[in-house]
Amino acid sequence: MPGFLRIMRELSNPVQFIRLAAKNLRVLCWTGYLMSKGVTVGKNISLKGKPAIERFTGTIRIGDNVTLRSRSRGSHSTLYAPTRLITDTRPDATIEIGDHTRINGACIHATERISIGSHCLIAPNVTILDSDGHGLQPDERRLANPVSAPVVIGNNVWIGISVIVLKGVRIGENSVVAAGSVVVHDVPPNSVVAGNPARVVKILEQPHKMVSGCQE
Ligand SMILES: CC(C)(COP(=O)(O)OP(=O)(O)OC[C@H]1O[C@@H](n2cnc3c(N)ncnc32)[C@H](O)[C@@H]1OP(=O)(O)O)[C@@H](O)C(=O)NCCC(=O)NCCS
Repeated sequence: MPGFLRIMRELSNPVQFIRLAAKNLRVLCWTGYLMSKGVTVGKNISLKGKPAIERFTGTIRIGDNVTLRSRSRGSHSTLYAPTRLITDTRPDATIEIGDHTRINGACIHATERISIGSHCLIAPNVTILDSDGHGLQPDERRLANPVSAPVVIGNNVWIGISVIVLKGVRIGENSVVAAGSVVVHDVPPNSVVAGNPARVVKILEQPHKMVSGCQE
């Protein structure tokens, strides 16, 4: 049945109508919430659950057709927390998320800059930090300005469940980070890295084509 007729049929059913209206209203409210937090939101953003935005300083830019998931329903595994985007400490702290990228319950905390390319897949319970949060030396632990270095994630990168990406890391395009890895060194393009610390375990001979409509 053509999409238009299907929608009309669903709307003629009062229960479906209320369900659809409530869903759209929720998404509208969450988009409004992002904008009220000063987040720049692209076209056709898809919000599954309410994300948590903590923009104390700086800029958060979300591209077109991005999905932010903040609930477990429909996901491969359980999300322990909603997608959380935090910018703080420095006035120019920036988070950038490229077009068609899907973030399924990650915590992304920028004090300097975290840039995520387009068509990336970020699995549940991933943490990406561009700062250690505390100084290394005993008398520096409580300094408000910890060491930071930008994190850059290339286009079409897949980051598996419960990965941790630490400051200064660059992940090359098309690469895959295996579940549970801790990434402390740069990842070359078209490679699979795994473990703690994450090391290259495989080279992708035929890099993935970017597919934006695949299963979540
Ligand atoms: C990255 C991944 C897709 C690679 O799969 P694969 O190509 O079949 O990998 P292989 O089984 O051939 O493993 C290659 C090597 O990496 C190691 N490895 C793979 N995954 C690993 C992991 N998560 N941690 C540590 N080592 C890992 C393997 O032990 C193997 O090492 P060996 O050759 O010394 O035995 C898979 O390991 C993975 O992490 N899947 C989970 C993805 C995920 O989080 N999905 C979320 C969906 S929302």
